[in-house]
Amino acid sequence: MSSTTTTAGTSFIDPFSATIDLAEGVMTDFTRRTERKASSMRGHYADASALERLVASGDPLHYEVFEKPVPEEYGHLMYCISKLYPGLVGEEYFMTKGHYHSILQTGEIYLCLRGSGFMLMKTKDGCFAAEKMERGRMVYVPPYWAHRSVNTGTESLVSFCAYNAEAGHNYGDIETEGFVKRVLKAGGVPVIR
Ligand code: F6R
Ligand code: ZN
Repeated sequence: MSSTTTTAGTSFIDPFSATIDLAEGVMTDFTRRTERKASSMRGHYADASALERLVASGDPLHYEVFEKPVPEEYGHLMYCISKLYPGLVGEEYFMTKGHYHSILQTGEIYLCLRGSGFMLMKTKDGCFAAEKMERGRMVYVPPYWAHRSVNTGTESLVSFCAYNAEAGHNYGDIETEGFVKRVLKAGGVPVIR
């Protein structure tokens, strides 16, 4: 470690790099992996019995997040690979839990590397937005907007995400508020309603 002038509250760390397998949609040298199976999605889908059938049939993986975490402090940038598998719960496409950042004034960038779907976003006072996600498309999630990704394709929806490392995640409010709209398969195509 070299010597430098640091500010209290922001740790000095050495530079590093990470390897991302763009074909598989994984960070190959991750040091933290979070997985969410169907059973961890209770309360989020409209068709609760369809989710229970999925849990009973082997509780498949819904999504994974790969990280090499940095200090959760002002000035650092957290980043990850988010890999959401394809599937349906009843008529509703597989999705992430979704969250507000605990520090609401922090945004996030998602760069979609693979697959297709939507980023659903909502604010505390009822605004709603949806942005298309597909390979090469970047979604800017501004401060104050909760965000949830939805996979409407037949392959994994993979994104690289970057955000303020001190942001934190507030899942509880989405569990109680829901997300305004859902993405459902209707007539064979995704419909947001
Ligand atoms: C981080 C972020 C993503 C998600 C990931 C899983 O702030 O938005 O890395 O954490 O896509 O989704 P959640 O966290 O909603 O389960
Ligand atoms: Zn986020």
